Amino acid sequence: MIEINTIALLKNKVNEAIETGQTIGFVPTMGFLHEGHMTLVENARTENDLVIMSIFVNPAQFGPNEDFDRYPRDIERDSRLANEAGVDVLFYPQVDEIYPQDGGITIQAGQQANVLCGASRPGHFDGVLKIVTKLFHIVQPTRAYFGQKDAQQLAIIETLVRDYNFPLEIRRVETVREEDGLAKSSRNVFLSPTEREEAPALQKAIKLGIEDYSKHGDVNQAVAITKKLIEEKTSGKIDYVELLGYPNLTKPTDNQEDVILAVAVFFEKARLIDNIILTNKGE
Ligand code: PAF
Repeated sequence: MIEINTIALLKNKVNEAIETGQTIGFVPTMGFLHEGHMTLVENARTENDLVIMSIFVNPAQFGPNEDFDRYPRDIERDSRLANEAGVDVLFYPQVDEIYPQDGGITIQAGQQANVLCGASRPGHFDGVLKIVTKLFHIVQPTRAYFGQKDAQQLAIIETLVRDYNFPLEIRRVETVREEDGLAKSSRNVFLSPTEREEAPALQKAIKLGIEDYSKHGDVNQAVAITKKLIEEKTSGKIDYVELLGYPNLTKPTDNQEDVILAVAVFFEKARLIDNIILTNKGE
């Protein structure tokens, strides 16, 4: 694995790959890697000649009172894990080079950003779109890999790629979980031991809710069941529990539509999200 931290050097590597007809699999991350990221790399590894991972804690997607400064960082550990997972190129650019000056152009997510995490994190998805647009142009991937845990992010990036004809494929990768069902996340390190014991209840609650929806098709009832279990089994404060059509993220119109049941819960030092997507094939 080689490590690169400037855009010019990365572009040399990318050009070399394109000239020799190699496909590029891209795994964008903010670092502090866990098994979820490793699974993205595994998928990229099987489908592409060259695997590029980026590590960049993107200031543009954090609000003023969010955890940008506190976001966990450990580049040495990440570099070792990326290497073991089979990454060929680890790209970790500096903030100054990625955002050299205030430009006049902004990218704004559409209505998909008005619900779920977007409702309580204004501007967050605009910041995500800004960085992925830049990274897609720098890395020029054949395929880019995103986890379904961040289902709203995934849906919005798919829309960006579709609406603006980005010449790449977005691959959806299933959420990786701990044995007790808790979705892997870089932020899980901020849970206290008691909160860590409570946190798998999120997944159990979503499962109960989605099972109820698949039987009765009643959005309000499914949401109420999910909320009740989270409130009973955790000390967390619910940010949202919502059931929406996926990937449009609007109210489901009929029970043939794919839906997502998604939650976000504040614990003392971490806000956790999780979801289940129910496809019309019943998965
Ligand atoms: O999912 C993440 O880690 C980030 O939002 C991403 C896609 C790397 C953009 O900063």
